[in-house]
Amino acid sequence: MDSKEFTRNMAETKIKKDKICIVGSGLIGKSFAMLFASSGYQVYMYDIQSSQVTDALSNIRVQLLDLQEMGLLRGTLSVDQQHSCIRGATDLGQAIKGACFVLECVPERLDLKTSVYKSIDPFLEPSAILGSSASGLVPSLLSKDLKNRNRFIVVHPTNPPFYAPLVELIPSPWTDSDVLPTTKSLCTEIGQAPVVLNKEIDGFVLNRIQYAIIGECWNIVKAGVMSPEDVDKVMSEGLGRRYAFMGPLETAYLNADGWLSYQERYADMMERVTSTFEPFPKVEGPTLQTIHNEFVRKIPLDQLDARRKWRDERLARLSKLKKDMDN
Ligand SMILES: NC(=O)c1ccc[n+]([C@@H]2O[C@H](COP(=O)([O-])OP(=O)(O)OC[C@H]3O[C@@H](n4cnc5c(N)ncnc54)[C@H](O)[C@@H]3O)[C@@H](O)[C@H]2O)c1
Repeated sequence: MDSKEFTRNMAETKIKKDKICIVGSGLIGKSFAMLFASSGYQVYMYDIQSSQVTDALSNIRVQLLDLQEMGLLRGTLSVDQQHSCIRGATDLGQAIKGACFVLECVPERLDLKTSVYKSIDPFLEPSAILGSSASGLVPSLLSKDLKNRNRFIVVHPTNPPFYAPLVELIPSPWTDSDVLPTTKSLCTEIGQAPVVLNKEIDGFVLNRIQYAIIGECWNIVKAGVMSPEDVDKVMSEGLGRRYAFMGPLETAYLNADGWLSYQERYADMMERVTSTFEPFPKVEGPTLQTIHNEFVRKIPLDQLDARRKWRDERLARLSKLKKDMDN
């Protein structure tokens, strides 16, 4: 769906009867709850800690009010309408029964996720989809012992999903053929930008690319070439400026006269430079302390929430800018 369709869909937002269940109401779970609610879905949010759900519901209201104030609320439903689409659930079975889509958002531990799926499995409707927001654990490993493993798919978001739309969709070898297209349309409908992995790979694509970047940033700081703050600026004021609109492959394509011309001009340099790359570093020792201390000076640990709010506002404004420019 292009952004015009997205705007049209959002212009027609209606409160729906379809039920979505979110299991785990932390950073990712509550952001997904907001996304589904902004499209009018009935969201049931369950957490092992009921206080987490209560906190999530009040935090969501604050976020919706902030978005409204900035003119960045999604869809056409009011803050109250969106908020009332989300309910806290204290019984997992009741939260799952009748849901067309169940999204697991519990911490990234194989034993925890598989035990949560065992509790979900008996209540899942035969046609429902069980999604996992796992960041790197492959779906065949996560779902191999489930009765409903044919309905399982990984839906890996970018944090925070409400403000950064990319989701990686990763079916397992035994996922039913309707699960991927249905999940893809659902994600698109709630304003996400899905990409598909044709086969499983540890860490998926986003984190593999992210770790390659972090590894090189780390090695540059470790070698004393640049300060952590300036390394981050290389991304935020340089590469990242372009990457918000196009990926590295298109960037290179435009930086010469197409990829064949880029190869002629830069392939030797790319090979020379990358042959000096160090392997991925051990994340420990003095470099860890240097990087940590520099960021603590800039953003004290008791001000992380304020900085996250600062980040989310900018991401929301960037989304709006991109949408406005495409219309
Ligand atoms: N935070 C990120 O940057 C990010 C990005 C993409 C994907 N993810 C993935 O999303 C998933 C959730 O991460 P998060 O950052 O939201 O974690 P989080 O710690 O913020 O939230 C996890 C929630 O799960 C709840 N929980 C724990 N055990 C449970 C159980 N048995 N049943 C129900 N709820 C339970 C916790 O109480 C907590 O509220 C992980 O797989 C993570 O890798 C995280």
